[in-house]
Amino acid sequence: MRRLIALAMLVVFLAPLSVFAKEGMWLPILLKKYNIEEMQKMGFKLTAEDIYDINKASMKDAVVIFGGGCTGELISDKGLLITNHHCGYRQIQAHSSLENDYLTNGFWAMSQKEELPNPGLSVKFLVRMADVTAEAMKGITDESKEQKELKKNIKEIEKAAEKDNGYKAIVKPIFNGNQYFLFVYEEYKDVRLVGAPPSAIGKFGGDTDNWMWPRHTGDFSLFRIYADKDGKPAEYSPNNVPLKPKKFFPISMKGVKTNDFTMVFGYPGSTARYLPSQAVDRIMNVSDPDKVAIRTLKLRLMNEDMEADRGVRIQYAAKNASTSNAWKKWQGEIKGLKRLNAVERKLNQEKAFKAWMEQDPARQKTYGQVLPQFEELYKALKPYSKAYDYYSEIIYRGTDIFSIARTVDRLIKRSFNYDAAKRQKAADALKASIDKHFKDYNQPTDEKIFTELLKVYGKEVDCIFQPEYFCKNYAKLESGKFTKKIYRKSILTSKTKLNALLSNFTPANAKKLEKDPIIRLYREFVDAFTVKVWPNHAKISTKIGAVQKLYMKALMEMNKGKALYPDANFTLRVAYGKVEGYQPKDGVTYKHFTTLDGIIAKDNPEIYDYNVPQRLKELYKNKDYGQYADSSDGKVHTCFVASNHTTGGNSGSPVVNAEGHLIGVNFDRCWEGTMSDIMFDPERCRNIVLDIRYALFLIDKFAGAGYLLDEMQLVK
Ligand code: ARG
Ligand code: GLU
Repeated sequence: MRRLIALAMLVVFLAPLSVFAKEGMWLPILLKKYNIEEMQKMGFKLTAEDIYDINKASMKDAVVIFGGGCTGELISDKGLLITNHHCGYRQIQAHSSLENDYLTNGFWAMSQKEELPNPGLSVKFLVRMADVTAEAMKGITDESKEQKELKKNIKEIEKAAEKDNGYKAIVKPIFNGNQYFLFVYEEYKDVRLVGAPPSAIGKFGGDTDNWMWPRHTGDFSLFRIYADKDGKPAEYSPNNVPLKPKKFFPISMKGVKTNDFTMVFGYPGSTARYLPSQAVDRIMNVSDPDKVAIRTLKLRLMNEDMEADRGVRIQYAAKNASTSNAWKKWQGEIKGLKRLNAVERKLNQEKAFKAWMEQDPARQKTYGQVLPQFEELYKALKPYSKAYDYYSEIIYRGTDIFSIARTVDRLIKRSFNYDAAKRQKAADALKASIDKHFKDYNQPTDEKIFTELLKVYGKEVDCIFQPEYFCKNYAKLESGKFTKKIYRKSILTSKTKLNALLSNFTPANAKKLEKDPIIRLYREFVDAFTVKVWPNHAKISTKIGAVQKLYMKALMEMNKGKALYPDANFTLRVAYGKVEGYQPKDGVTYKHFTTLDGIIAKDNPEIYDYNVPQRLKELYKNKDYGQYADSSDGKVHTCFVASNHTTGGNSGSPVVNAEGHLIGVNFDRCWEGTMSDIMFDPERCRNIVLDIRYALFLIDKFAGAGYLLDEMQLVK
């Protein structure tokens, strides 16, 4: 017994103490100043210039913004690019039809001729970035004119940066507006689909495994960037040629071990690291739980119908995925923040700030109002932020019928200022989205969700923020009669009727639509919100923004000389850490990697998310792994976790080793660590990475597209 206790104590002491996990998403031009020394101590063998340089090719020339919200990286000198399956999902879906169902079966171009163009998709390379704080603030003396002058300065900076070069420049605030940085991009618009595994691999585990470790998702897709014959951006043309990039990533075949250095280089979307205690309190105790509850209800109703009917299952697959993605993340966030005692920690930080401030009357004068104002403003915001959350979750994105009402209402309102030709053109432009809406629309499901969510709205939102009549009568929704009646009367539930009105979109028809019971009800909600909630919410939020800016300024002063990283804002960042597993809860330790064994173990043809393709099972049975098995255990490793600080937008980001070689593609975070947007926990925050060798194995052995490997540079 005693030996057992001694053993247990030993285990506790030997438990992997994460000394390497590294919070932070760092600006590449400041690495030299703040990070490179530490990175090298952790094992990195390259220099800051190897990551970012404007005079010679560097890693940054191999990283792109992919589409509107993901990252991608170049892996050949012929413009070949890898990103996530879920990042290319929309393109893969767009090329899919019943005859060529690439989502289900995968797609592989067997030569460049077979690659598929994607109108609307573009990638952006960062040409350069610069601190332009001084220029942005130039001439600003009077606080009341600050916003206007700032805007003017920024316009000028952007214009100058775009002069005669075809680039796109954007100035973004950093550190809550205490600094401004310029980002100059070169955008390529001819980007073609090269390959994607079937969803059963690229989305393996679906929403059940989403945000979870251990994970076995082959979440990647391949694209190729095309340029004109001079290598310059060009609209799609069959005459375009594959882009020869300045730089691409060599691919490591060596795999990873615990404690190996890792770096993620990509575009994290947004974090909120420097919030005060009141804001964190609101997120974890009010806002996240409210939004989770609404979506729990919605998902339950949706799932009932999806389980009962295969057609509905297909119709609502994408809606279900996007509803459940944030729903699941918020739950992890709440748990994580609670576990960290986040509010208490914030209060302690505020105490430290106060003590620092009180050391110096000048500081006191500048920052003395920060904490009391936070207190006051967040209290004032409370009723509005609750109404805001319910509005955005229920009225804005909760139901199909109000989504189509929003689209149609926007058209109606604009159309009254248009001449006949323009009006009809605007109506015709809606055709595609209306088709898509009805293709994925099941009225009984929507009716049910609508009734239940609106009941919640009536019950939870303060009556003064609701349409008056609705608030008094929402209880009548109970019987379902009201919903049934307006759904039956409305034009918006019938594709034929709606299209008939839109195909001859006269002012009379616009007026007719205005009288539609759904449009009228929708407008009442919008009006109540825009009059009673929105202006107050915006006014208080702006004030909070100004106080936050001041607080941030103080924190920067307080931490002078120490490295602080600015919140993510979808600009290129470096995160570095180590390959390491973690302990998700007491008594459980997770390894840092998963293998094909785990995929086979999860195989279940009955369950959509776990239906392993036959071909993959054959490869497994024959141990036909080629050069892709790990040398340590002879298995195909599928994913691994590391302690890099990442967030949404980092999907598709290159994960590189100490030599700067690609070891994986980032695609998720572990559930126990999703609070890292607000508070990072080195013990439990991990990013989830696709092992690049699994992708190569799939391309070569599974898909028979091994010719693509010829253009890559494999480091064995
Ligand atoms: N959780 C990842 C992200 O935030 C992946 C989402 C896509 N996958 C899914 N099963 N819905 O984007
Ligand atoms: N899947 C996320 C994305 O699409 C990355 C996961 C995260 O939030 O860290 O960017």
